[in-house]
Amino acid sequence: MPLSPHDLEHRLLAAQAIAREAGALGRRRFRDRPNALTLNFKGPQDYVLASDAEVESLLRLRLTEAFPEDAFFGEEEGGEIAAAGRGTWIADPIDGTANFARGIPHWCVSLAYVRDGEALVGVIHDPVHGQLYAAARGRGATLDGTLIRISGLGDIAQATIEAGWSPRVPLERYVGVVERLKAAGASVRRAGSGALALAYVAAGRMEAYVELHMNPWDALAGLVLVEEAGGHVNNYLAGDGLTKGNPILACTPELAAVLGEGTGVR
Ligand code: IPD
Ligand code: CA
Repeated sequence: MPLSPHDLEHRLLAAQAIAREAGALGRRRFRDRPNALTLNFKGPQDYVLASDAEVESLLRLRLTEAFPEDAFFGEEEGGEIAAAGRGTWIADPIDGTANFARGIPHWCVSLAYVRDGEALVGVIHDPVHGQLYAAARGRGATLDGTLIRISGLGDIAQATIEAGWSPRVPLERYVGVVERLKAAGASVRRAGSGALALAYVAAGRMEAYVELHMNPWDALAGLVLVEEAGGHVNNYLAGDGLTKGNPILACTPELAAVLGEGTGVR
């Protein structure tokens, strides 16, 4: 059964309250984190942080209490992706883990609601700056309750683009993308939280985000935000995108063709 407008609204409101509570916990842990000498790694540049699991447990508890009929999947502990006719919450408790671990105040809680292969709700909370981005399909995107729009800029030579990367894709491919974007005149940056970068694109702070493989818990909330703010997103959920992730390109509609060409993400 499709979700009623009332049930969509209920999830949008609940997701915001729950993301705020999770963000407040994350912010306390960020403030009290140990210094850099105690950093732990599970692999190359892959940080182990107790706070990720703790924040995810809170998200799981609150969402399963509020919506026992929905499934829950988190980056840290996994979970269930529901079959057709039921919804799933997909969460990244702390996106920008490396920033968090090093005391850099650029990380967020990212929460999406997906049903029948479509991302319907996206909430991203940046608790250090007290900013909450929220969107639901057909209802627009907001930052702290005020509607936001994509920047609308169409000239790549004036564009600011964030390019994310990870060891999941060979370095040469990223270097190729960055080279082509720079050669076309774009300012290319990487701030270390793909989810927050998508929220920034939705808010018109930069023109695009591109990554050659993005996990669903990083991508889905931002995808709803960018689309509801009037932006273009490639067909991220194609194939196994919901379970395995895909390349992502989120940008102003004016830049979609040139960036599709330059990045190979369409
Ligand atoms: C990572 C960040 C990064 C992106 C990677 C993600 P994490 O998530 O979003 O910006 O480029 O693909 O894995 O490890 O900070 O949760
Ligand atoms: Ca992440």
